[in-house]
Amino acid sequence: MTQPKILEELDQAKQMALRELETVKNEEGLLAWRNTYLGKNALVVKAFQSLGTLSAEEKPLVGQGANSVKTALESALASQMQVIKEAALRRSLASQSLDVTLPGRPRLRGRLHPDTQILRELYRIFAEMGFQVYRSREIETDEYNFQLLNFPVGHPARDMQDTYFIDAPDRGDNPLVLRTHTSPGQIRAMREIAALNPIDPPPVRVIVPGMVYRYEQTDTRHETQFDQLEGLAVGPGITFSDLKGTLTDMARRLFGPQARTRFRASYFPFTEPSAEFDIQCFKCKGAGCSICGGGWLEIGGSGMVHPVVLQNGGYDPARYTGFAFGFGVQRIAMLRYGINDIRYFWDNDLRFLEQF
Ligand code: FA5
Repeated sequence: MTQPKILEELDQAKQMALRELETVKNEEGLLAWRNTYLGKNALVVKAFQSLGTLSAEEKPLVGQGANSVKTALESALASQMQVIKEAALRRSLASQSLDVTLPGRPRLRGRLHPDTQILRELYRIFAEMGFQVYRSREIETDEYNFQLLNFPVGHPARDMQDTYFIDAPDRGDNPLVLRTHTSPGQIRAMREIAALNPIDPPPVRVIVPGMVYRYEQTDTRHETQFDQLEGLAVGPGITFSDLKGTLTDMARRLFGPQARTRFRASYFPFTEPSAEFDIQCFKCKGAGCSICGGGWLEIGGSGMVHPVVLQNGGYDPARYTGFAFGFGVQRIAMLRYGINDIRYFWDNDLRFLEQF
């Protein structure tokens, strides 16, 4: 059998294609070349199309021949493409100078609000002392915010916390309020923990952080919304010394061993006895200045949990005692960072926020 003629033609086409490929210098040229030698009118494609018309002896010969030409052309195309790309890269590197010493554009980094930073530090300090974070709600009922904490309806101590009421259908003596303090979390935490074993309720060690709201005249130390951090420990045999020890230790962990603290007798309906807890002013060191007034900054209230409150929480006051405290978190941040006006916290002024 003589060699089918098309094999010779395929070989010539291949030689021609390879010679021509060497002269192609850019990607458009490559596309055109591929169209001519591998596109639908190319000889190699025609050879495949003609297989059906060939005799049984010719078919494998032409099939193999066309295949080997196609593979050779495709691999030549791929390597020429590589050569062209590398040349383009070399040209671009040579023409545009690349200064690798140029500093990158700085990315703007977000950061935590100073209030969040202090809160997290407080969580850590209290976690080390065995307190768990308990989250309570910001919209409360009058019952939880006041009544169960021993502020009955009409009690004069309610005047200490000017309240925002939620405009809701009449609920009689139990309107909805924005919580004025985190203390209703005491009742919610006690009830939840007592429910685990109502006959012999487990001890409680919780802190309750969160936003509270008061209809206040704002000034350097007062805002209409601020964070409080409530603390509650209930168990058999807890005393006032445990309260003093815990808060003094907290102040030292937060401000260093030289931190000075002061307890002043006070009144809250839900603690008995009660005390205000002050830390000496960072700025005047106790002499008295515009930030603190009298040398000390009031951080929070504290005291031994009132028997009525223990009872309302599901703890028998004959068996259990407890202490509680509630801080203003911004007041602590002010001491810590030397901030002289509480109104900066929610102003969202970057000149303030970027300092932390
Ligand atoms: C209370 O809110 C009590 N619930 C605290 C408490 C808890 C006492 C548990 C006993 C046991 P008082 O109204 O004093 O107490 O507020 C507590 C702290 O919140 C204050 O000492 C102060 O640090 C902060 N605070 C109060 N009002 C404002 C305000 N308008 N702006 C910023 N911080 C405030």
